[in-house]
Amino acid sequence: MSIELTVNGQVRRLEAEPDMPLLWALRDHLALTGTKFGCGMSLCGACTVHVEGQPTRSCITPLAAVAGKHITTIEGLATAAGRAVQRAWIELNVPQCGYCQSGQIMSAAALLSSKPHPSDADIDGAMAGNICRCATYVRIRQAIHRAAETLAASGAG
Ligand code: FES
Ligand code: FES
Repeated sequence: MSIELTVNGQVRRLEAEPDMPLLWALRDHLALTGTKFGCGMSLCGACTVHVEGQPTRSCITPLAAVAGKHITTIEGLATAAGRAVQRAWIELNVPQCGYCQSGQIMSAAALLSSKPHPSDADIDGAMAGNICRCATYVRIRQAIHRAAETLAASGAG
């Protein structure tokens, strides 16, 4: 079946089964390997991308559900919130092994887009589904606050 979607601003057409997980299509068909496979069961958040701006688990999202939609992966995350998050991640050296981090960044950017001044409770709630085996949670929270400050200072928050 031919399925068309817009990925990082580019229209892409895939020949694939409609029940193929979006994660497989991104990684294996489109070579966008920044999005990671962790559990495959919507339990860890490693596969988080944005679908129409909403954080979405690509491992359990069938291609048919995203046909015609706009998808953003870590490779194309260029919103003001996304840039602020990535800068803060670098400044605070958030990653350890790094495996979970693209999913963490996608969730953090989505949070700041909807809530530019999140409290600790907001952060913990929004990020609860993103598991980090290296336990970088404290730095993740600090970096989200840093990104919120950067956005506010730039007038984007
Ligand atoms: S790989 Fe999708 S939630 Fe774990
Ligand atoms: S940095 Fe290693 S799993 Fe999160």
